[in-house]
Amino acid sequence: MASGSGEEEGASWRLIGPTAGLSAKRCRLMYSSLGFNSDVCLFYVKGEFYAMDARCAHSGGPLCEGDIEEADGVLQVFCPWHDYNFDLRTGKSGTSLQQQVYEVKLEDGNVYVKHSSPLSLEPFPAVKKS
Ligand code: FES
Repeated sequence: MASGSGEEEGASWRLIGPTAGLSAKRCRLMYSSLGFNSDVCLFYVKGEFYAMDARCAHSGGPLCEGDIEEADGVLQVFCPWHDYNFDLRTGKSGTSLQQQVYEVKLEDGNVYVKHSSPLSLEPFPAVKKS
């Protein structure tokens, strides 16, 4: 099966929740059952959803808390720690870094994200850190 870069092996569509509620906020953190480093941001900007790894590819900054700006028609999130930028759609940065992005689909009023692990808006009790 041909797929775009960044497609993870074994990924499947994960139900996140109703579109109406999720579009009320600019960003939601989605917890991964694989733990902290696999959590994902769900952005809602200008009527579209985007999903990307929540921890910055540079040093792990919280991208959900970053500013979002549009330049030349490209929506970008700026990491709050060192201000590196990442294209919301492709995950590419003005630096050589690449942030992992995920496909999002809307179906029957719900948002789905394609990911290799279950995702949840609530933390998974089994992966709590001591
Ligand atoms: Fe994100 Fe450094 S941790 S730019």
